[in-house]
Amino acid sequence: MDLTLKVWRQKNRNEKGKMETYQVNDISTDSSFLEMLDILNNDLLEEGQEPIAFDHDCREGICGMCSLYINGKAHGPDSRITTCQLHMRKFKDGETIYVEPWRAKAFPIIKDLVVDRSAFDRIQQAGGYISVNTSGNTQDANLTPIPKDDADKSFDAATCIGCAACVATCKNSSAMLFVSAKVSQLSLLPQGRVEAKERVLNMVKQMDKEGFGNCSNTGACEVECPKGISLENIAILNREFLKGSITNN
Ligand code: SF4
Ligand code: FES
Repeated sequence: MDLTLKVWRQKNRNEKGKMETYQVNDISTDSSFLEMLDILNNDLLEEGQEPIAFDHDCREGICGMCSLYINGKAHGPDSRITTCQLHMRKFKDGETIYVEPWRAKAFPIIKDLVVDRSAFDRIQQAGGYISVNTSGNTQDANLTPIPKDDADKSFDAATCIGCAACVATCKNSSAMLFVSAKVSQLSLLPQGRVEAKERVLNMVKQMDKEGFGNCSNTGACEVECPKGISLENIAILNREFLKGSITNN
């Protein structure tokens, strides 16, 4: 298939960017979207032009790096997948495809399609962990009984890969779905209750400090999340935050 690509190019975070037009020909429908970009970059290199910078690592839906806005949708036209799992058969021969970076004030553009998502790391560092003694005294996991429903919900929340599609797609650039997944993954388990209050207060404080917007209550985040993280986690986050605020004052 032959395609026209309109791609966001920006030299660095300080300079203004703009859409550039490229032509790619003879692309197999079995290629992945990122392979198609690799082919374009090879062509650009052969022509002595600067290749397009874009993020990727695992290319199998695990690392959450491949943050692309394609035709106005986070991770492109398919649902429940990341960009690296998107295939060219989802597009039509002769189509024009718009490729942009994640849009959010808290994720400044580093170059072209690459954004700085270290705000997520700082939120995780603020409380997304548990403190356990691992110095030879670790208990067998089954010594602490956990209701199956709680274990399942915690596991589902833990499938969040930190890709930030939820932020990019939210009209307020809210990080609530991400933060709620990281909070409820731990707060639903007895091992995570020890630091539950400090965790939720610190993570929400860091989220606000990074400049993410408030929850817009539209649910776009859940729709675009490649891992199907449920809005129910935001309800859990709100409950945890209320409990933490009341008992900490
Ligand atoms: S909640 Fe979903 S969309 Fe948001 S960072 Fe996690 S996996 Fe990505
Ligand atoms: S490159 Fe790892 S999830 Fe896409």
